[in-house]
Amino acid sequence: MIFNRKPNLCGVGSSRYSLVICHSQKIINPNMKRLILSCLVLAGIASQQVVRADEGMWLPLLLKRLNYEDMKKKGCKLTADEIYNINTSSLKDAIVMLSGGSCTAEAISSNGLLLTNHHCGYEAIQTNSTVEHDYLTNGFYAKSRSEELPSGGITASFLVRIEDVTQRVLAELNPSMNETERSAKVRQMAKTIEKEVKEASGYDASVKGFFDGNEYYLFVYETFTDVRLVGAPPESVGKFGGDTDNWMWPRHTGDFSLLRVYAGADNKPAEFSPANQPYQPKRFLPISLDGVKEDDFTMVMGYPGRTDRYLTSYGVQMALDLSNPAVVKIRDKKLKLMKEDMDASTEIRIKYASTYAQTANYWKYFIGQSQQLKNNGVVEKKKELESKFQTWAGQDAQRQAKYGFALRDLENAYTDMRKVTLMRTYLNEAILQGAGVPFFAYQMSQLKEVIGDTSNPAGVAEAIAEVRAEGANFYKDYNIGTDKKLLEAMLIIYAEGIAKEEQPSIYDSIRTKFNGNYKAYVEDLYARSVFATSDKFNSFLDNPSVSVLVNDPASQLSGIFLQTFMTNYRPQITEIQSRIEKGNRAFVAGLREMMPEKKFYPNANSTMRLTYGQVKDYDPRDGVEYDEFTTLKGVIEKEDSSNPEFFVPAGLKALYKSKDYGIYGEKGELHTCFISTNDITGGNSGSPVINGKGQLVGCAFDGNWEAMSGDIFFEDKVQRTISADIRYILFLIDKLGGAGNIVDEMQLMRKGKIVKR
Ligand code: ARG
Repeated sequence: MIFNRKPNLCGVGSSRYSLVICHSQKIINPNMKRLILSCLVLAGIASQQVVRADEGMWLPLLLKRLNYEDMKKKGCKLTADEIYNINTSSLKDAIVMLSGGSCTAEAISSNGLLLTNHHCGYEAIQTNSTVEHDYLTNGFYAKSRSEELPSGGITASFLVRIEDVTQRVLAELNPSMNETERSAKVRQMAKTIEKEVKEASGYDASVKGFFDGNEYYLFVYETFTDVRLVGAPPESVGKFGGDTDNWMWPRHTGDFSLLRVYAGADNKPAEFSPANQPYQPKRFLPISLDGVKEDDFTMVMGYPGRTDRYLTSYGVQMALDLSNPAVVKIRDKKLKLMKEDMDASTEIRIKYASTYAQTANYWKYFIGQSQQLKNNGVVEKKKELESKFQTWAGQDAQRQAKYGFALRDLENAYTDMRKVTLMRTYLNEAILQGAGVPFFAYQMSQLKEVIGDTSNPAGVAEAIAEVRAEGANFYKDYNIGTDKKLLEAMLIIYAEGIAKEEQPSIYDSIRTKFNGNYKAYVEDLYARSVFATSDKFNSFLDNPSVSVLVNDPASQLSGIFLQTFMTNYRPQITEIQSRIEKGNRAFVAGLREMMPEKKFYPNANSTMRLTYGQVKDYDPRDGVEYDEFTTLKGVIEKEDSSNPEFFVPAGLKALYKSKDYGIYGEKGELHTCFISTNDITGGNSGSPVINGKGQLVGCAFDGNWEAMSGDIFFEDKVQRTISADIRYILFLIDKLGGAGNIVDEMQLMRKGKIVKR
């Protein structure tokens, strides 16, 4: 029996940030261009233009057709086949999807060594940390293979091939189908195709919809489950700047960690075993020590999770008015409560570190998104496009019939969706992702099916053992005092935010039985629930009983919330959702027809994409210019020993003082991070930044504040990808971490030649 650790209920999540729920450029050669432009400027013909960022998350199999000429002009020296080819090894073979799309990593040695972000390895580092071995604080490097640590369930998937299956899927659909029938058919076709691949090759397959259901592609993966933690810098380096600097430039974060993929003796995926061998990937990335400079070509390959670039003004307005402020408000409270306890105890700090960081990341994301949606006038820009679309659609009867309804239907659907959005957001954020015990109890309540089964004692014993392990996992990062505080606060926040008539019946009992005293209710719940402590849970498992499970106050609490949702809201939300899907499908198809000369790219959906652009500075606001790179000097400038976010380890200060940068420095300085015009989003975290020769120059880890609205509308002038310079990463491993053994596995290149450190 497998229990999801995260809530997974179709329809509860309001999509983008949630736990989802069914669902992180062109011209001549650039130098030539600058020359011509400066002549024009000198001649007074042109005014110096702001350089545009490079919108587009392209599907690798369409590169040759759509982007390759443009990439060459921008400085790409590789052939399209060297980037993506399914018959010979190509760059795509070095790109790894972590845990089904939570992050990206890249192979950087012939022995399965992977590079990703610190925040992608964070949970693995946290899981291995204790008060005695605090790897979060001190960092960790395996000095030999035997010291590598389990990663706590990270999986690594390599893409075998992509195939366009649009015709096959669309052939099964017809216009007389309603949305429910249509999506059922699509799901069925996807399952059929996925099963065919699995049976024929053993590979995992996934069919995904593109352009809002207008196209379908098949992705085939080889997935490895034995992935180990090899190294990470101290948190003060890997998360330098903390939440203050998060989502912002200029940045000085060494946001990286190292993993290794292990395989069986046949180099194929195998369950964890000490006998497993490092995986030999088809391809790994060589590393450039040459650095990057302004205008250099950069491409990023990885797994962007989700964008909503074709979202209409109605959806944007709904986010601005309802869901974004609610998410921020609820997370704000959760963060404050966790922090109180984390600051008071090292043990609690380690337990909650990962949950805290994840909560804070999207707390700040939604603050920034709302701010920049307004700043960048996104609703207005969307409305302008929508009005053009409407005019175009009205120009002939056929278009009118095909596309004329789309925006009107979307507007109506969003009017209805607005009525349920708050409840859905509160349920997801405050209840499902609130305190730990109620949801854990809900997951465990599925046990009743198993323990009731007297015919299969061996099966029951096996299930209990699995559940015991799940419990160990849960309680390892659990503190009862913190959990109680969270539950009380979240119940209150829900009651304050959601109209009384919409509240589940549990609120009646809190009012009647506990006089509206939430604290008393919560105390009673934890006193009676078998899920309140690890000891109580384990004694329950020693003597499991269905009636105890069913009557447990914690599973009852989550059960009531979910039941209310499923009965009163889920059908309605599904119906509205299908109107939105249908409207969007027509809107996107119409847009593509309206602008036949424009190259369209599909929204991100956790499938491999490539974005290309250049290293480029930007002007965030009037009178301010931001450089395209930062150096170690900036780390020292930001140091604040009274603020853990800006703590600088003594070792790093000493290296700065002695300027001991070895082969990683450039003109006496050490570059830390840089920005480029690539188009990335959450899920791309850890993606390789690759130069025109196919060498690794950086590891992408963030987007910038001025473009926080970028997932909904790409901001040509200011949108940037923030990456850690690969030379900073190597310096941190080698000089600060003393783990030259790891660097020695890599292939370092300087001016086209292989070099040693
Ligand atoms: N904003 C980054 C992303 O979503 C995560 C950065 C993690 N750092 C932090 N301070 N929480 O990819």
